Amino acid sequence: MNKTYKHLKLSAAALALSVGVAQAADVEVLHWWTSGGEAAALNVLKQDLEGQGIGWQDMPVAGGGGTEAMTVLRARVTAGNAPTAVQMLGFDILDWAKEGALADLNATAAAEGWDAVVPEALQAFAKHDGKWISAPVNVHSTNWVWANKAVLDANGISAPTTWEEFVAAVETLHDAGVTAIAHGGQAWQDATVFDAVAMSTGGPDFYKAAFIDLDPTALGSDTMKEAFDRMAFIRDHVDENFSGRDWNLATAMVINGEAGFQMMGDWAKGEFLNAGKVPGEDFLCFRFPGTGSQVTFNADQFAMFDQGGPVSAEQAALASAILSPSFQSAFNVVKGSVPARTDVSDEAFDACAKQGMKDLAAASASGNLFGSMAHGHAAPASVKNAIYDVVTAHFNGEYDSATAVTELVEAVSIAQ
Ligand code: BGC
Repeated sequence: MNKTYKHLKLSAAALALSVGVAQAADVEVLHWWTSGGEAAALNVLKQDLEGQGIGWQDMPVAGGGGTEAMTVLRARVTAGNAPTAVQMLGFDILDWAKEGALADLNATAAAEGWDAVVPEALQAFAKHDGKWISAPVNVHSTNWVWANKAVLDANGISAPTTWEEFVAAVETLHDAGVTAIAHGGQAWQDATVFDAVAMSTGGPDFYKAAFIDLDPTALGSDTMKEAFDRMAFIRDHVDENFSGRDWNLATAMVINGEAGFQMMGDWAKGEFLNAGKVPGEDFLCFRFPGTGSQVTFNADQFAMFDQGGPVSAEQAALASAILSPSFQSAFNVVKGSVPARTDVSDEAFDACAKQGMKDLAAASASGNLFGSMAHGHAAPASVKNAIYDVVTAHFNGEYDSATAVTELVEAVSIAQ
């Protein structure tokens, strides 16, 4: 909707209210929730708003991690036609806030006490200059493995807890003629796996030094070379059609018993649930081997774009709906994530989410909670994209591990 039309619409709404007739305005929401599980979760939000008389204009831009969505957003804002609300991750939110593009949600946040219930790790990306500038929907994490239980059982495999056990399990499946690892060869998916592999290879101090502090010594270390060697092992155990595959199609391979494992954030669980599968019976969820105490998180938030005045009534209503405890439970049960508030009961959640909530609290308390590099919570987009390029080039055989390390140090240095 262009701005002129929107203003006309809003004045129509104001007029209708002044004569006592309820008239809702719409929200236009840009997001990348296009898979079956994601769409099911999005419906929870749409219906919540429709219940309040607020219409929904959908602006989906496919592509996990949101790279494509962020490109479309930039074009829309440049054209003076920003959407009402935009799904966004970590550093992207802060970048837009610094440009002065985001509406101030402080009034809603204060009235509803967000400061007391949203974890600090999320507030770091939801506030800028003392102002709330986005509404956190959830907490996902990237260091998960999803497994087909029947495939594992048939091959005498139980959930591996160390890299060595994982290697043995993958080789057992491979020798049995089963695709061990379902993967989609897209840069953001390669990077999602790399999050977990780097954490497992070097531990939390290494992960932080490399991806959050961007320390050239960690980026250029033998440990990083070992992480790339492990990526090469993974590359050797995906099927030959992996290139370009969407993440949810890789998840479907595990759901259908065509592959043993997928390493992916817990949005993958939304696909299993959407297919009617039950955790513990049909599929297993466990932390990437060697990262049992750590959580690499990303949180989806909705940033409200300044529409040329104070935050609009619809934007405030959307933010309020997102943060309501009942919505946080209903939405995240379907999405695969866990609530962005610390005071939501885990009662409605399945076993994987209950573990996710426990892991998150424990990791936060023990200093083992880190922003996901792959999903924009460790470093700004310029650095993230530079890491993507190197990880993907290595995954596709363009670089050996030693070259990848050298390229990584250089790419990160140039991107800063
Ligand atoms: C988002 C998830 C989404 C996933 C795949 C991630 O960056 O945080 O909400 O499901 O991408 O599209």
